[in-house]
Amino acid sequence: MNSAISIENIKKTLGNREVLKGISFSVGIGDIFGYLGPNGAGKTTTIRILLGLLQADSGRLDVLGQDINQSETRRKIGFVLDTDGLYDNMTAEHNLMFYSQIYGLPKAGERFDKLLSMVDLKNRAGDRVGTYSKGMRQRLALARAMVHDPEVLVMDEPTAGVDPSGQIEIRQIMLDVARKRNKTIFLSSHNLDEVQRICNRIALIDRGEIKLYGELENLRKKMGGGGVVIETTKNIPESLLAELKKLDRLGFQKKKKTSLFFSPRQGTGVSDIISLLASRGVKIEEAVKKEALLEEMYASILKEAEAS
Ligand SMILES: Nc1ncnc2c1ncn2[C@@H]1O[C@H](COP(=O)(O)OP(=O)(O)OP(=O)(O)O)[C@@H](O)[C@H]1O
Ligand SMILES: [Mg+2]
Repeated sequence: MNSAISIENIKKTLGNREVLKGISFSVGIGDIFGYLGPNGAGKTTTIRILLGLLQADSGRLDVLGQDINQSETRRKIGFVLDTDGLYDNMTAEHNLMFYSQIYGLPKAGERFDKLLSMVDLKNRAGDRVGTYSKGMRQRLALARAMVHDPEVLVMDEPTAGVDPSGQIEIRQIMLDVARKRNKTIFLSSHNLDEVQRICNRIALIDRGEIKLYGELENLRKKMGGGGVVIETTKNIPESLLAELKKLDRLGFQKKKKTSLFFSPRQGTGVSDIISLLASRGVKIEEAVKKEALLEEMYASILKEAEAS
């Protein structure tokens, strides 16, 4: 077994709508996997199937090499759904106790202390959850998802509606959980910046189909590896601009004042662009390489899909 989650050709129709049209991907052990997609793409439906809360119509699904319908497999998964599932009139500690009982675990113990410290809620452990901020609730939901020490954590937009500093805290906890406790995290998110910061592997779903999938680093390279911004000392003449636009291999994108943006084709290097500009008498102040941003990949793939 070398994958934490393996999904093959999963299909699901809800009502008269084919919500998942045969999706496949796998999540490696120790991955922080980012599951991206616009509203209504099928993320929550995938998650519900992953957790065994909804049955797929067809296809294959393994979690840690086992069938999700076995209770022993389910115990190895923790989850945070799009509703936090916390009880407002109970304290944080009682919420954890309640979930522990569901798993048949002891009601007390230093486990709770550890979990509450992990999510930085130890000093509020005795307060009713109804008094918590959204960020605190999400942190507690994360602790709750880990009461039974699962191997895999599945989270549906865990930072949605949380303010920026709260998001940073939650991201740090997720990173610690994956890196220090060697857990696998499956995370659905709308936040591309978040996914870019913490995920090593991603899938992009759109209208029930996976449009992009793989190691984030490899995808970046495949998508053209970003580009280069060349700062010139003066505005370049229109005639040269027209010439640059004609040379496809340079991948000239746009000009902004004295900055020129290129994403060169394979086989064309930054030095080729620089020497061409120099030969036309352009003085160059600096050239900065930019990695492809997930945002650009996302936008271009969804635009392509719309056009087809
Ligand atoms: N019980 C249902 N019956 C019919 N259609 C449904 C049902 N549940 C979900 N859908 C439809 O399935 C599609 C996918 O929904 P899903 O909740 O999986 O999307 P999502 O990617 O999680 O979206 P969001 O980002 O808004 O959370 C949507 O078009 C939704 O309307
Ligand atoms: Mg959803």
